[in-house]
Amino acid sequence: MSRYLDPAWQIAMRVRFDFNNLMAENIGEEHGFSMAELERHAHLAQAALAAVQAQRRAGGLRWMELPYQEVDALLALAAEIRARFKNFVVLGIGGSALGTIALQDELLHPFHNQLPAAQRGSPALYVLDNIDPDWLSGLLDVLDPTETCFNIVTKSGDTAETMAQLLWARRLLIDRLGAARYAEHIVATTDAVTGSLRPLVNGERFRSCRVPDGVGGRFSVLSPVGLLPAAVTDMDVPALLAGAAYADRLSQTPFLWQNAGLMFALTQYLAYRRGKPMSVMMPYAQGLRTVADWYAQLWAESLGKALDRQGQVVNVGPTPIKTLGATDQHSQVQLFVEGPHDKIFTFIFADKFGHQVEIPAWQSGQDAVDYLGGHTFNELLAAEAAGTALALAAAGRPNAAFHVPEINAFTAGQLFYLLEVATAVSGEFYNINAFDQPGVEGGKVRAFALMGRPGYEAKRAEIEAAREKRDARYEI
Ligand code: PA5
Repeated sequence: MSRYLDPAWQIAMRVRFDFNNLMAENIGEEHGFSMAELERHAHLAQAALAAVQAQRRAGGLRWMELPYQEVDALLALAAEIRARFKNFVVLGIGGSALGTIALQDELLHPFHNQLPAAQRGSPALYVLDNIDPDWLSGLLDVLDPTETCFNIVTKSGDTAETMAQLLWARRLLIDRLGAARYAEHIVATTDAVTGSLRPLVNGERFRSCRVPDGVGGRFSVLSPVGLLPAAVTDMDVPALLAGAAYADRLSQTPFLWQNAGLMFALTQYLAYRRGKPMSVMMPYAQGLRTVADWYAQLWAESLGKALDRQGQVVNVGPTPIKTLGATDQHSQVQLFVEGPHDKIFTFIFADKFGHQVEIPAWQSGQDAVDYLGGHTFNELLAAEAAGTALALAAAGRPNAAFHVPEINAFTAGQLFYLLEVATAVSGEFYNINAFDQPGVEGGKVRAFALMGRPGYEAKRAEIEAAREKRDARYEI
């Protein structure tokens, strides 16, 4: 039996949520919660969870079923790609890239791409989630397109950045391989039916994966969007899904005191209502750094909304802030400890690392040096993390922590799923639609107009009229 199916191992790998430092007894009554206050709001949490579960039962939240998907075909495709290509380049943006970047940092060797190919055992993985021309050109200095598979990831097939990247990759490949062979180097991950990429997949005979209906970008890490790059680079996809399924099971309970995701969502919401709109996410592991990036998008795009479900203007939403321990102790922690009381903090601690690295001893005669020797970097990082949490608590700053027993595919799947459910539940608290992103459209539409997309002529005229009104006095 694979270890991730062993119930005892699963329990040992459970992601825990420690919220001691949100409580009044540890940070004071002004900024901490009392037990009574949380109890008073338990019904609100239960109602929100019940609403999410009802939507799921009605077939509305298909991302919640991703832990149970069939992946044989995806694994077979990945094995083929792994055997044939030296490099796998993901071209996508937002929810089509951030989950893959987080998986890459969590589950691959930290210097995967720099390892010799034989030691790496799978293609180098590059995720290009931007369109900076220097970045694109730079990639060509480190890889040969003829040894590369390009994975075009766009649910909608409508995203200008990604479609431009497709054109770029296509031209590179045609120039090197010819029009008859270029398509062998492209795999598209897109909607099964709709969008502009699907007809190109059919016409050009690109291989493809489907983003299931009802799975939006930021909830798609456990769909082929994240799973294909994961499988190509030999991550343990079944363990990842088993971790998500485990989180699904744990998140079913309506008992606030037993449900980590529910308690996280409720305390975040109550903090927001108490004048703490800033939600800081601070992992203390390099491998979890970009989980904070993924969370920032999930939280911001899902919960930052102008209108509530009744169409009233509410302009709500917490502001996620992504940081990294210990690095940002020397950057933002000064503000966190002494600045405005407008933040709630969530650490992600890895209880165990893959390596234990000793700090060698040296009796140099310098106190600032000598006490470190004989300890480990593991101990030092844990001490820095505990020190920051305690310093925040002493300053009356509410802070909680997710404890990841170790960073592996099972705990990665758990954490993604837990935070996704927490986001859906939070949508209920705020009474907004957590699954749309109308605010992103404004910028997109204007970019379409400026780039001459048919159908956007009126918008272009509007932009040009606005540009003519620009006043030179306001530019220095
Ligand atoms: O979460 C979302 O829906 C967005 O961030 C999208 O992922 C992003 O806009 C890219 O969209 P698409 O996958 O359609 O190219």
